[in-house]
Amino acid sequence: MPNITPISGEALKAACNLLQAGELVAMPTETVYGLAGDARQDKAVAKIFALKGRPHFNPLIVHAATAKEALAEAASSAQNDPRAQSLSAQFWPGPLTLILPRHENSKISELACAGLPTIALRVPAHADAQALLRAFGGLLAAPSANRSGRLSPTTPLHVAAEFNDEVPLILAGGKSSIGIESTVLDLTGATPVILRPGAITRDALQRTLEMPVAEAASDPHLPKSPGQMAKHYAPQTKLRLNKLEAAPEQAMLSFGPVLGKIKCKAELNLSVTGDLTEAAANLFSMLRQLDAVGATEILVMPIPQIGLGIAINDRLARAATKDE
Ligand code: TXA
Ligand code: MG
Repeated sequence: MPNITPISGEALKAACNLLQAGELVAMPTETVYGLAGDARQDKAVAKIFALKGRPHFNPLIVHAATAKEALAEAASSAQNDPRAQSLSAQFWPGPLTLILPRHENSKISELACAGLPTIALRVPAHADAQALLRAFGGLLAAPSANRSGRLSPTTPLHVAAEFNDEVPLILAGGKSSIGIESTVLDLTGATPVILRPGAITRDALQRTLEMPVAEAASDPHLPKSPGQMAKHYAPQTKLRLNKLEAAPEQAMLSFGPVLGKIKCKAELNLSVTGDLTEAAANLFSMLRQLDAVGATEILVMPIPQIGLGIAINDRLARAATKDE
């Protein structure tokens, strides 16, 4: 039986003991649940890759309790980058990951950064993630707590379903409020580039930076994140996008005021009122539920390509891709 424990002084102590020993702990965050290990221990980081079945060229995000601790891991020149300073002041703690040149004398495991000269840094806002990071007093490498290529977990039960008792401790912190992974922004070049869309939108970033921000997905010439393989976030059942009608053997992931109007095997509605924030929070969880009903296919209604809809459509497009 997996050990699912809500946060308490005792749970934090147990989690810190495990982390110090190089073991892994599942940690709630406001985006998705993370599979956390001590970012300085190669052994812990290697365990993350092994458990997820994650390719070693795909680097991990390093989590810190404060912006100060996070930015201390960036190269000295990057610490004074006004873009990193204004973004961290505006959006941390929160669902933004910054890619920066890595500190010259970084103690972070090379494996966590996949041997790259850059590092992905994030300060999560979830109170339990904050409590764990503060109690641990160090940095945690934490990818989403799912097998590589599968749906990200937004509840402790999703993590348990994914790993059973292979993760010694799952900290239970409720349903992730955002439900989609952090926005990944590359600040290593002259123009900031969004490598992965998320809750912090391009507009919000441009307003804070007062400069244009590029989107890697929409520009074939821009470098991609090593982890942005075409297929990702996938349920086992085949997914078809932008459908309005379904057959009796199919399942439907609907959006907007249509609930119950579609005759099919199972229907779940991302947001009856058409609220994209609510839709993002429900996305992975509802895909998991529809994956389990034995439908021939899961059909998805069109989602508007604005605000958080961009991140939702990014995940859906990857989940629907045939090739790896
Ligand atoms: O919301 C999140 O970010 C969650 C929670 C747990 O914090 N974490 C997460 O981690 O989604 P993961 O490992 O599933 O996704 C990390 C993404 C990958 O696409 C990876 O390729 C990219 O960040 N990444 C990490 N380091 C990078 C680097 N140095 N350069 C470019 N991309 C990087
Ligand atoms: Mg992931």
